[in-house]
Amino acid sequence: MAKASVDIRSLMTGAAGAGPSSWAAAPGRQVAISFGGGLPDPATFPIEELIADVATVLRRDGDAALQYGGLVGYDGLRESIAERSRRADGRAVDGGNVVLTSGSAHALSLTCFAFVSAGDTVLIEAPTFAGSLRAIRSYGGRLVTVSVDERGMSVDDLEEKLAALKAEGRRPKLLYTIPNFHNPAGVTMSLERRRRLVRLAQEWQFLVVEDDAYGDLRYDGEPLPSLFALDDSGLVLKLGSFSKILAAGLRMGWAIGDPEVVGALTSVRHDMGVSPMVARTIAEFSKVRLEPHIQRLIAHYRGKRDRMVAALGEHCAPWVRFTTPEGGFFLWLELAPGVDPDALAQATAGEDVGYVPGPAFFADGDGRRNLRLAFSFVPSDDIERGIAGLGRALSRSARPT
Ligand SMILES: Cc1ncc(COP(=O)(O)O)c(C=O)c1O
Repeated sequence: MAKASVDIRSLMTGAAGAGPSSWAAAPGRQVAISFGGGLPDPATFPIEELIADVATVLRRDGDAALQYGGLVGYDGLRESIAERSRRADGRAVDGGNVVLTSGSAHALSLTCFAFVSAGDTVLIEAPTFAGSLRAIRSYGGRLVTVSVDERGMSVDDLEEKLAALKAEGRRPKLLYTIPNFHNPAGVTMSLERRRRLVRLAQEWQFLVVEDDAYGDLRYDGEPLPSLFALDDSGLVLKLGSFSKILAAGLRMGWAIGDPEVVGALTSVRHDMGVSPMVARTIAEFSKVRLEPHIQRLIAHYRGKRDRMVAALGEHCAPWVRFTTPEGGFFLWLELAPGVDPDALAQATAGEDVGYVPGPAFFADGDGRRNLRLAFSFVPSDDIERGIAGLGRALSRSARPT
């Protein structure tokens, strides 16, 4: 369509003017083997079961399923999410503590809309999930980063940052963290750090947003109490999602927390709520199918993680270091000093292998010597072939020692 000469950008907000995220394009298609996007494996989608459940819902509750469903979402699904949280977190919650959202990404957007005004200080991990970084930025949050190591967010660093903020007369509004199977770092926050973080939130009175998108996908070790489980002040809001444990295309997530906090998210929502048909279908699926499905996913993704770890040991060991994640979708690699990250980017493109370069996950362009590999999406049998290609690319990008 021919366009008259107009300056549409001058009409946009700063957030829109920054342009779309890479998610605007369908991810994972540009190279033959993409370890880039953190997509669930389509081979795990329970299509036949969902067809049965959607048919049940439409036959039984067709009118309600196809009508507007209100801002907090279908009671039956909120109750089922609360029931899972009662078991996992041991908190006395019910459906009134839950709001359904269009994925957990939407829950984070609503949280920012409700709690972050332009210029407010927000504490985030470095590295952190790139989508969350963009979301918090687009609400005008002034980012202060806290480092992450093998035991998750460094609470020592957090204490230093809080003291520095106090000296400047600033008070953080919100802290965003991914304690389980971190995206991208793969690490899990230790129990001692969880306890200290909750104490600090209570002392400094900031909201903690606990993003638990991968929490159900633990392949080794014992689950640790969530921050939500450790808090009794109402300051922890936990975000969850069906994207990784059922299907991302259903676009169903939730926030669970203190009714006043959850109510604030509902107050700023203008989308008329999530799809009642999808919410009811997931509630139907959750009755008997969800728990065994999650158990199958755990076995499936554990196998993929193990294949990737073994392949990295075989093909890439001299040039990378990483911590084996106990769950989730990601391996976070640190390049050995001799490897040139720019040469590596070129060499991997030549091998038709994709990954996400580290700087995507940092607020300040840090992370040049890191890269994220997702083992979730690529078919199991392609993992070794892709990692062998990465190994060849690494060997070509490394200084001879
Ligand atoms: C840590 C984390 N949070 C949130 C999301 C968003 O997930 P969704 O909106 O599909 O629930 C993702 C997706 O990759 C993620 O990795």
